[in-house]
Amino acid sequence: MNLYKYVSDEINKKLGFEAKLDVPKNRDFGDFSTNAAMVGAKNAGKNPRELANEIMPKLQELDFVENVSIAGPGFINIKIKDGFILKNAAAPKPMTNETPLTIDMDYGAYNVAKSLHIGHLRTSIVGDTLNRILRFIGHKPISYNHMGDWGRSMGLVIAWFQKLHPDWPFFKPDFNPNGDYSAYTVSAEELNTYYPAAAALAKQSPAFMETAQVITAELQRGHPGYNALYNIYMPISLASMNDTIKKLNILPFDNDLGEKNAAQYEEPVEKILRAKNLIEQSDGAEIIVVKKDTDNAPMPPLMFRNSRGACPYDATDIMAIYYRKITDNPDRIIYLTDARQSLHFEQLFRAADMADIYPYEKLEHIGYGTINGSDGKPFKTRDGNAAELNDIIELVTEAVNDRVKESGKALDQETIDTIALAALKFNDLTHDLSSDYIFDPTSVTSFEGKTGPYILYTAVRLNSVLKRAHIAAQKPEHFDLSVEERNLLIEIMDFEHMLISAYENRATDMIANYAYDLCQLTNNFYHNCPILRDDIDEQVKAGRLYIARLAFDTLATAIDLMGLKIPTEM
Ligand code: ARG
Repeated sequence: MNLYKYVSDEINKKLGFEAKLDVPKNRDFGDFSTNAAMVGAKNAGKNPRELANEIMPKLQELDFVENVSIAGPGFINIKIKDGFILKNAAAPKPMTNETPLTIDMDYGAYNVAKSLHIGHLRTSIVGDTLNRILRFIGHKPISYNHMGDWGRSMGLVIAWFQKLHPDWPFFKPDFNPNGDYSAYTVSAEELNTYYPAAAALAKQSPAFMETAQVITAELQRGHPGYNALYNIYMPISLASMNDTIKKLNILPFDNDLGEKNAAQYEEPVEKILRAKNLIEQSDGAEIIVVKKDTDNAPMPPLMFRNSRGACPYDATDIMAIYYRKITDNPDRIIYLTDARQSLHFEQLFRAADMADIYPYEKLEHIGYGTINGSDGKPFKTRDGNAAELNDIIELVTEAVNDRVKESGKALDQETIDTIALAALKFNDLTHDLSSDYIFDPTSVTSFEGKTGPYILYTAVRLNSVLKRAHIAAQKPEHFDLSVEERNLLIEIMDFEHMLISAYENRATDMIANYAYDLCQLTNNFYHNCPILRDDIDEQVKAGRLYIARLAFDTLATAIDLMGLKIPTEM
């Protein structure tokens, strides 16, 4: 049950107006508090404390209320009856929503022929968690890996191929698109080195950059050789991308459709834009002016077609919105990228709105902060390079290995990998999305404190208690709840409310913090309320096992929604 919602609705019904229910940080005085007396005071022409004294007896009549008390200027604390808690606490199950929203979730968004790097960590982890939460609370998310596969980086990679293998058939004017080119394959590792090399060369050599840009435009215009080459390396790149995605334990994308797919809609989108007179000429390029008179900050135009005739990132993004509209017709599109892309999305959303392709209010960009090293600058590996995702996973795995060795435990590699992934992902989720954070492989792998390993450890321990028990858990009928039992059960009953808030606030740190609080409460319960000890009365044992079971099920659900896995031992 969503305890918060239930209590809030019942209070509003009883009083006949809408008050706000709060969850106090310290729940010693009440499980909830309401501002009903402050809200009603104005209308009633009374002071809030006076009104609170009139309201309190009414609230006391509600069958789930144990007691009410007044706090501060007129807040009312509400304590819930133990019997009500015991009766209604339950393991979480996927919720239904009367008005489910279809939400296109654009995250991950990896680039073809470029390995995944640290900049893709947060979009993957947070996007996946939001996607899972949305499903759980009864909405219909559709996930998109909007692959960067049709812009200048493709031109750069093909130009690099041409430098390496100028005599390959793809570059010949008499190229036969129906030939068999299966022999011209390349390993993923090798392919991943091409883009950085080409980008570095392009920086020094304007001629090489020019070549790459011309190739990009020709690729987009259907050049058979370039397209054949692209079709060879695309699946290789996608396979290595999918390896990393699997390693990260994020759900497979509903759609691996990116820029190239969107570019198929160039014609209809251009028609719409032209009909609305939105395309302007500028130095041989075609742009959409999105600036408004009310803008204080600079607002450059959106680039629809560059002077070489290629459609850049901006353009394929507006086509992608069109594509999603005609396929999913979503209620909302949410993009998750580094905050440094905020301007791009503002331009894009304005253009889509002006063209009546999709309304501005339904488009949303969540920009996240940077992951930094201890020097406060973007995290680099020891060799000073921008860290690849695989390097980061390796670093954390090493740190877990060291800790496990130190402790004298013997854990198999699969368990170590599971712990390492939890350390990395949970740490990411605990941070407020918009801020930068410092990544330190040693601290995130600690088995104590707000870390992934601590969360998993608590789950493993609960699970082992449940497995060792020789009697069945039983929902207690009459049971004097201890403070620890009570606090734990109330937290369990907050789960649904927390999930809805996490989505509404786009705050995945809420689920991470919830999991941590739940573990703290579980461990308090575990220490103060022995479960399997011989001297414990059988009925108490069964009741505590019941509570332990609910705690485990709730924690396991939270762990799953964060895309972590519970190892069998730790
Ligand atoms: N591929 C881009 C990058 O790695 C992110 C794309 C985000 N999604 C979008 N529809 N623009 O920076």
